[in-house]
Amino acid sequence: MRGLIFLACLLATSSGFAQSDPAAQERLKSIGSDPVALRAAVDAGKKVTFFCTNCHGEDGISKTPDVPNLAGQNPAYLLEQIRKFGSGERKDAFMQGLIKVLKGDERIQVAHYYASIKVPPSVPDAALVPRGKELFAKLCVRCHGEQAHGNELFPRLAGQKVPYLKTSITRYRDQTGVRNNQLMAIATAPLKNEDITAIANYLTQLP
Ligand code: HEC
Ligand code: HEC
Repeated sequence: MRGLIFLACLLATSSGFAQSDPAAQERLKSIGSDPVALRAAVDAGKKVTFFCTNCHGEDGISKTPDVPNLAGQNPAYLLEQIRKFGSGERKDAFMQGLIKVLKGDERIQVAHYYASIKVPPSVPDAALVPRGKELFAKLCVRCHGEQAHGNELFPRLAGQKVPYLKTSITRYRDQTGVRNNQLMAIATAPLKNEDITAIANYLTQLP
């Protein structure tokens, strides 16, 4: 029964899976499946991202609490978020302006470059981890995966910064309009603030 309700939700909110530029996503995939093309894209992506390092850190491993790691993230998700900043569907004063400098294949190269780097786990508030684990297993695992590594449709959460996770999850829950996704609005609706803190501390320490 729960499965059925879930399926109905998915069908009703299929826009939640928004990867709204299928041509670019197809191209990302085809480059990703060709080792030579992928190598070239990763090398080109590293060059393109020289000024992203100011905020996102060397190799996409952020040193700033409010700025997300990009390393280890799924390339399809990265490409989609770049598109969303570009179109204004996702709001951030810096990112919306900055992302306009990335044209065509550069966006794909950036996505493959960051996806190719391993992201290290961070140290959590250990006392909160068991509660976070329990909530994640109940409410989040079915999309983001057992290890929170995500897949083509869902972002990786493992190893992400606690403050960034808290802010993002809260924005979906409160439907502030900064980030819009129906699946996430539904999934986060039952969470209290302290639940969000616990989940973030669980996620940040996952390898
Ligand atoms: C001035 C600082 C700054 C610079 C420079 C910057 N970013 Fe960001 N970026 C941010 C912040 C802050 C966020 C988180 C926004 C939010 O809270 O939703 C972000 C978010 C992102 C995300 C979404 C990640 C996720 O997990 O959803 C992507 C992708 C991204 N940036 C790519 C880039 C790329 C590519 C560049 C270089 C072309 C870049 N950024 C340069 C500050 C910056
Ligand atoms: C039905 C599928 C689904 C479920 C269940 C779900 N998510 Fe998500 N999640 C998504 C999708 C799709 C996105 C990308 C949304 C977007 O483009 O903004 C996302 C994005 C996120 C992000 C943003 C990642 C980033 O790098 O900015 C966080 C954080 C997150 N989810 C946490 C959670 C947590 C915590 C739960 C459980 C309470 C959860 N999700 C449950 C589908 C789901």
